[in-house]
Amino acid sequence: MKMYSILLVLCMTSYSLSASSTLDGTCVNPTTLSFIENSLTNISDQLKGSSCSSDGATSEGLTGLLQLALVKELAKDYKDKSCDKEERRLLKSINASITNKIQSLQSQVSSLSSDLNKLSRLLAKHVNVSLDDEEEAPSSPLLSSCDAILSKWPNSPSGYYNLADVNGHSRHVYCHMETLCGERGGWRRIASLNMSDPNEKCPTQFKTYSQSGVFACGRPVTNSGSCVGITFPSRDIKYSQVCGKVIGYQDGTPDGAAARHASKVINSAYIDGISLTHGNPRKHIWSLISGQSDVNENYCPCASHAPVPVPSFVGSHYYCEAGCHQSHGSANTLYSSDPLWDGKGCGSTETTCCQRTLIPWFYRSFTHSTTDNIEMRICCDEGTSNEDVPVGEYEIYVK
Ligand SMILES: *[C@@H]1O[C@H](CO)[C@@H](O)[C@H](O)[C@H]1NC(C)=O
Ligand SMILES: *[C@@H]1O[C@H](CO)[C@@H](O)[C@H](O)[C@H]1NC(C)=O
Ligand SMILES: *[C@@H]1O[C@H](CO)[C@@H](O)[C@H](O)[C@H]1NC(C)=O
Ligand SMILES: *[C@@H]1O[C@H](CO)[C@@H](O)[C@H](O)[C@H]1NC(C)=O
Repeated sequence: MKMYSILLVLCMTSYSLSASSTLDGTCVNPTTLSFIENSLTNISDQLKGSSCSSDGATSEGLTGLLQLALVKELAKDYKDKSCDKEERRLLKSINASITNKIQSLQSQVSSLSSDLNKLSRLLAKHVNVSLDDEEEAPSSPLLSSCDAILSKWPNSPSGYYNLADVNGHSRHVYCHMETLCGERGGWRRIASLNMSDPNEKCPTQFKTYSQSGVFACGRPVTNSGSCVGITFPSRDIKYSQVCGKVIGYQDGTPDGAAARHASKVINSAYIDGISLTHGNPRKHIWSLISGQSDVNENYCPCASHAPVPVPSFVGSHYYCEAGCHQSHGSANTLYSSDPLWDGKGCGSTETTCCQRTLIPWFYRSFTHSTTDNIEMRICCDEGTSNEDVPVGEYEIYVK
């Protein structure tokens, strides 16, 4: 509340009728706005009832009154909250100057109907502002990205904000305001799962794996290859960059990029691992591949011994790692001690697999912005008694 009130004061100092677009509602409490709107209606009624003509009308008179209305409302906020001595002193001096100004302004109010209409329109646009989280941060439903919020208020903390989607509907979203993937803050979170948190559960389409206190989400039991996916809606908010992290585990004997029982097309299990795509038809974002052993049968494209290539649509947009530290994996074993794609624990054949700049984070930037949903599929070309690649954690951000 304190921060928001300070913003309000800053707004007011630059506010005037001639530059009324500065009253864009993004830094003013909606309650305050409806208060002003009521005041305007009152003033407007007074003007209608008066015989006063527009000659010699000064907009300063009304502007001043509006500023006072804002200050008065601000003062009311302060009075309702406990605040420190310094703030009280400041408020007292503001209050004193209002009382004086009100008297000198009362005689200056004249007919200003066109300005009143202009203001009313501006106000009408903003009175429906949601009150969500206004205690935490200035929320801005008129802005359409976390990035825009951070540009406007560079000190905005991470937290929930309201954004306008492409249809103008308000969307309540989590904004990450610190640097991610080497790119400054203003990231919108569209997915997160943390199976280390005892309160979190696997999304319903997945089976819960557990081993030595590690929990992860994999494919439901199947005798054959399959891809099981979850869709993260874009909520009709545009983005052109993706930054994410997926941590998984090797279960059984996945075969990296050598998954030979499925065709190498994006809709099938072209790898044993996680396929992240956007849109329909699917467009590749990142592949997170599980090798089988980090000393022998690795099957990663980055393996130093017998590397297996990925399909061309993957390019270098993948991480590949094995969790098993013996020559061969064993069926129905969750290798819970070496999480995959964290850039750690790469064995002798896969050292280059861990040497990636951002790992465990991955980053993509598109040439065009999109509102595509993002899909995460767990894919394996054989049944769950042979292999699976359950995930224990993910975080996906867009901007
Ligand atoms: C508007 O005028 C009415 C009646 O004169 C009064 O009750 C009300 O408090 C006024 N509203 C504001 C916001 O000044
Ligand atoms: C502001 O001034 C008025 C009259 O001068 C006084 O009644 C009121 O208590 C003051 N408000 C604050 C918050 O100091
Ligand atoms: C604000 O809300 C009112 C009532 O819910 C509605 O009639 C009005 O059209 C809304 N204004 C805007 C600008 O959305
Ligand atoms: C996941 O949850 C655990 C337990 O609550 C916590 O210690 C850990 O920091 C969380 N991880 C992330 C990435 O938030």
